[in-house]
Amino acid sequence: MTATPMTRTARLSDAGEIARLTTQLGYELTASHAADRLSRILPRMDQQFWVAEIDSSVVGWVHAARFEFVESGAFVVIGGLVVDKDQRRQGIGRALMQRAEEWTRQQGWSVVRLWSSVIRTEAHQFYERLGYKRVKTQHSFVKSLDGNSEDFKLFMPQV
Ligand SMILES: CC(C)(COP(=O)(O)OP(=O)(O)OC[C@H]1O[C@@H](n2cnc3c(N)ncnc32)[C@H](O)[C@@H]1OP(=O)(O)O)[C@@H](O)C(=O)NCCC(=O)NCCS
Repeated sequence: MTATPMTRTARLSDAGEIARLTTQLGYELTASHAADRLSRILPRMDQQFWVAEIDSSVVGWVHAARFEFVESGAFVVIGGLVVDKDQRRQGIGRALMQRAEEWTRQQGWSVVRLWSSVIRTEAHQFYERLGYKRVKTQHSFVKSLDGNSEDFKLFMPQV
C-alpha cells in the first residue's frame, strides 16, 4: 500500500472526472449531466461527496447520504464509490470510505450501510475487509411512472 491518498470535498469543476469514473462504475454519464446533479448534491448538508486525488488528478469518488427510516433510525448510505481502474489496490477506496465513516461519527451517527449488486464480487471482498457485514440479499424494484423502460437502465450498471 502507498501513502494515504489525499481526499477532499468534490467541486463542480470535478464533474468531468467524476463522469469518467462513473462510467467505470458501469453508468454512462456525461460531464454536463454530472455537473447538473452535483450542483444540487454539493450544497446539501445531509449529503457529502468526496474525491481522491493523486498528483492533482481525480482518481476516485464516494458519495454519502443521510437517511432516517422509522424502522431503523438514522444511518448513512454509501450512494456510490469508485476508484480509477488503474489506481486500485493502493488504499484509495479505503481512504474514501474512512472519510465517509468520519463524517458519520462527527454527525453523531453510528451506522453506515450500502447496497451492492451481486455481480460486484470484488467490491464485496473490499467491504468485508473494511469490516462491513453482509446482512441480507434483496431484489431491486423500479417503476417508471412514464412507462419508459429506458429509465430502468439508469439503475442497472453495465459491469
Ligand atoms: C471496490 C473498490 C472501490 C476498492 O477500491 P481500492 O482502492 O482498490 O481498495 P483499497 O486498495 O483501498 O483496498 C482496501 C482493502 O480491500 C481489499 N481489496 C480491495 N479490492 C479487493 C479485491 N478486488 N479483492 C479482494 N480484496 C480487495 C484490499 O486488499 C485492502 O485490504 P488491505 O488494506 O487489508 O490489504 C474498487 O475496486 C472499485 O472501484 N471497483 C469498481 C467499482 C465498484 O465495484 N464500486 C463499488 C460499488 S458497490
